[in-house]
Amino acid sequence: ALPRDLEGRHVVVSAGGTRENLDPVRYLGNRSSGRQGYALARVAAQRGARVTLVAGHTADLATPAGVDLVTAGSAAAMETAVRESAAGADAVVMAAAVADFRPVDLATDKIKRGGDEPAPLRLVQNPDILAGLVRDTPRPGQVIVGFAAETGDAEGDVLHHGRAKLTRKGCDLLVVNAVGEGKAFETPDNAGWLLARDGGEEELPMGSKALLASRIWDAVTPRLA
Ligand code: C5P
Repeated sequence: ALPRDLEGRHVVVSAGGTRENLDPVRYLGNRSSGRQGYALARVAAQRGARVTLVAGHTADLATPAGVDLVTAGSAAAMETAVRESAAGADAVVMAAAVADFRPVDLATDKIKRGGDEPAPLRLVQNPDILAGLVRDTPRPGQVIVGFAAETGDAEGDVLHHGRAKLTRKGCDLLVVNAVGEGKAFETPDNAGWLLARDGGEEELPMGSKALLASRIWDAVTPRLA
């Protein structure tokens, strides 16, 4: 049986990918299935937490029992939803793959191809929801966890990027995944490292996303205020 160590706690988990609309029929998106975030939400509920799951676009996944689902299709919608639900939360885990860029403007009509001109795509950066939450956390002592999907062949590269990202974003914990062909996205299993702001580093061996979720909550619970 799972420990009930999240009893009386409220946690927020984001999951899935955002889509940034280009015109009435097209968007910029990514391959996130939402499975890791859904597993985090399910395990937290099983461990007794009240869970708000902020979901972007996902594979066809069932909402875990006892979890409050809020849908947020774009980065802007996800920022609003995460900020609102994080207000009183003990922990926030940003497992969603949020688009880093969005089109400068949303075309009202379908974008047409034009001769030899380059594609008329102008992008602007989205706000970093995770970094913003760390900056103005509504609740001192709130534990904030980020994810980092890093490409790179050498384990050292992936860890190096992860450590730099943890420092840049300022969150308490960062889950680093090596991504690429058949790794992390659209797969049932996952592996990586869990890096802590206080210098801690543990390897998360290949296993189900539920198992990884358990390991992540194991690291969060002792840090809760
Ligand atoms: O910088 P990068 O996109 O690799 O960071 C990944 C982490 O930051 C994830 O936890 C993701 O949910 C979060 N993120 C965010 N807002 C963005 C981009 C990423 O919260 N605009």
